[in-house]
Amino acid sequence: PTVKATNVVWHPHNVTRAERAQQKKQQPCVIWFTGLSGAGKSTVANALEGELYRRGYHSYLLDGDNIRHGLNKDLGFSDAERVENIRRIGEVAKLFADAGLIVLTAFISPFRADRELVRRIMPPGEFFEVYVHASLDVCERRDPKGLYKKARAGQIKNFTGIDSPYEAPEKPDLVLDTGALSVEQSVEQLLAFLKQKGRI
Ligand code: PPS
Repeated sequence: PTVKATNVVWHPHNVTRAERAQQKKQQPCVIWFTGLSGAGKSTVANALEGELYRRGYHSYLLDGDNIRHGLNKDLGFSDAERVENIRRIGEVAKLFADAGLIVLTAFISPFRADRELVRRIMPPGEFFEVYVHASLDVCERRDPKGLYKKARAGQIKNFTGIDSPYEAPEKPDLVLDTGALSVEQSVEQLLAFLKQKGRI
C-alpha cells in the first residue's frame, strides 16, 4: 500500500544496528520458511530454533500462532489478505533483525512477489528463503489438522494447493525435501547452510 503518513520524519537512533548485533555477538538475519500447509515449516523452524538456543544464539520465531492470533487477527485467506499478512510479517521480521536477532518465519507465503518484497526491504544478504518442500500428495496424506479433507469437501474455501495457488520459489537459498529428510536431517542442513553463510 502507498504511504499515507505525511510529515513523518525517520528519526536516527543513537545505537546503531551494527552495535546491537555486535553486543549480541551474532549476525542477524531472516530465515524465511515457505511451503504448503503440512510441509513441515513450523516443525523444522521450531527444531532449528531449539538448536540455535542451545548454542547460545538469540532468535525469535514468527509463526501463525503469534501473528494470526494477534497482529494479523483481522486478516483471512483471500489473496489480498495473504499479501497484507506477509507484508506485515516482513516488516516485523525486519525490525527484529534490526534489534539484533536471528529471525525465523514460518508462513505459507504463497506468492513469489511478496517473498521478494521482503528480501528487498532487508539489507543485502540477510534474507534467506528456505523452501520446505513436500508434494501436495504427501501434505494431503499427512493432513495434521484435517484441513485438506475439509478443503476437498468444500468446507474451506481458498485452501492453498487446492483452490488457492502456491508459487514455488524459483531460486530458493535452500530446499528441504521433508518427504525424504527427517526433522534432524533438515536441521543439520540448515545449520550447515547458516555456517557456510557466516551467520553462526
Ligand atoms: S499465508 O498464505 O502465508 O497468509 O498463510 P499463513 O499465515 O501461513 O497461515 C496458514 C495456516 O492457516 C491455516 N489455514 C489455511 N491455510 C491455507 N489456506 C487456507 N484457506 C487456510 N485456512 C486456514 C492452516 O492451518 C495453515 O497452517 P500451516 O501451519 O501452514 O499448516
